[in-house]
Amino acid sequence: KTTVLTADRMIDVDNGTLVNNAVVVITDNVISQAGPKDAVNYPADAEVIKLGNYTLMPGFMDMHVHLTSDATKHGYKQLADSLPRMTLTGVKHAKATLMAGFTTVRNVGAPGFADVALRDAINDGDIAGPRMFVSGPSLGVTGGHCDNNLLPFEFHAVSEGVADGPWAVREAVRRNIKYGATVIKFCGTGGVLSKGTKVGVQQYTLEEMQALVDEAHMRGLTVATHAHGTQGIKTAIKAGVDSVEHVSLLDDEGIELALQHGTYFSMDIYVTEYILGEGEAAGILEESLNKERIVGKRQRESFKKAVEAGVKIVFGTDAGVYPHGDNGKQFARMVEFGMTPMQAIQAATIQPATLLKQQDNLGSIKAGKMADIVGVQGNPLDDISLLENVGLVVKDGHIVKSVAM
Ligand code: ARG
Repeated sequence: KTTVLTADRMIDVDNGTLVNNAVVVITDNVISQAGPKDAVNYPADAEVIKLGNYTLMPGFMDMHVHLTSDATKHGYKQLADSLPRMTLTGVKHAKATLMAGFTTVRNVGAPGFADVALRDAINDGDIAGPRMFVSGPSLGVTGGHCDNNLLPFEFHAVSEGVADGPWAVREAVRRNIKYGATVIKFCGTGGVLSKGTKVGVQQYTLEEMQALVDEAHMRGLTVATHAHGTQGIKTAIKAGVDSVEHVSLLDDEGIELALQHGTYFSMDIYVTEYILGEGEAAGILEESLNKERIVGKRQRESFKKAVEAGVKIVFGTDAGVYPHGDNGKQFARMVEFGMTPMQAIQAATIQPATLLKQQDNLGSIKAGKMADIVGVQGNPLDDISLLENVGLVVKDGHIVKSVAM
């Protein structure tokens, strides 16, 4: 089956250029041709969708989501939902994410391998949702950001990914892979939303991080590390992680190390607005709101510095902390804090495809790649906030959303 999309503009994220009068030919689930109209030929009987004043881009990729998390249930509210309930919530969130133009996500932390179940249901065609790269339970130290510290000792509440010591973390990596993980996530410092942890304090020693990364890489998986604190960021980079998440309290040495090691930063600079605006009503603890008041500002300054220094940056938002489907709101913040619109679009397309080692399949509108395409009305290079209203979503060659037709 051949489908043809025509639009006034298309973004070539590989070259960082705008292509006028674009034509994209989709054969089954693959892009078979793409370029300016004079360079493309397609069969006369193909179905042609004329989008007019639209800009086509590769499907967006969010490298930090939690589809099973509900943004209205934080802190103690979150304890009331069962794992099956959270999984069903994930079904709704997967669809909202796809409809917002995000055709691929990296889900970095879910209880009970609910993320694996969601991914499999999407791949089997049972439910609508993005391509998912999934971590299973996030790994972390006892009492750390990836543990559950809400209840007193007698409840013996321990998160599934808790593992202490180099061999225990290796075992945890092996277990996550056994049950379907395709990426490994661990917590390298305290966090904002966890009770009793300090954002500036490292969790896991260098030795533990090295063991974890070695095990994951040996098995062909990439590693994402939650790290706000200066020392944790740097130790994780030295241990060889593929991406650092949050990266709030970044110093110059951290930037140098990231440049040397080719480490990606995934910085969720939108979510602070939701936490400080709606967080209290959603159950976020007062201590977390206090942490956020410091972290949110520092993170945006760090983002600016990292962009200026040329660190590789991927679009990651922590959706689930704020409502799924609002992912696109982060684009405008990335431009406000130092990126060009083109860089922000590349951060959500070709950069994450490369981070995930999927650059041959995903991340640009190029012959041979999967037909994951989004379209917006107008030109996002002139107004990045247009990406908050995606009119066309094609995933795997299927038109899953079209307001233009
Ligand atoms: N999950 C993260 C944490 O608890 C959210 C941090 C959000 N804040 C921010 N400014 N990015 O640490």
